[in-house]
Amino acid sequence: MGMAIDAESRRPVIGNVQGGLSGPAIKPLALLKVHQTYQVARKHNAPIIGQGGIMNAVDAIEFLLAGATTVGVGTALFYDPLVCKKINAGIADYLAERNIASVADLTGALKLGPSLENSPVSG
Ligand SMILES: Cc1cc2nc3c(=O)[nH]c(=O)nc-3n(C[C@H](O)[C@H](O)[C@H](O)COP(=O)(O)O)c2cc1C
Repeated sequence: MGMAIDAESRRPVIGNVQGGLSGPAIKPLALLKVHQTYQVARKHNAPIIGQGGIMNAVDAIEFLLAGATTVGVGTALFYDPLVCKKINAGIADYLAERNIASVADLTGALKLGPSLENSPVSG
């Protein structure tokens, strides 16, 4: 949760005082949660929808690499209602440039250093 204050009026910007934080500010937190959840979910073939701060194709690809099977987009739609079409096109370009056959091949394809392979986070 978060809040915003208008210093001029001295009032909360949000009528309810507080609201759920979204957008780019939460992307690092969301990426880590997907990465951690994937370590358990992959053993059961449980899919993950990655969401939190995805504004473009690279953001979406980062969530796929962390372990997401698909992604969700919320806040970015308020800036550009057509952003999902651009994100899909950007992912397609990323795959084509690297001769990757399927977007499914990106899920969990994060490269970890050897010292991290058995860490609590990756294990
Ligand atoms: C206007 C707005 C309404 C939302 N309504 C809901 C909701 O009803 N239920 C819910 O679980 N999450 C809701 N969310 C949270 C989003 O599902 C998402 O988890 C969050 O916004 C982070 O993703 P984003 O950075 O792509 O927006 C809402 C977000 C926004 C911006």
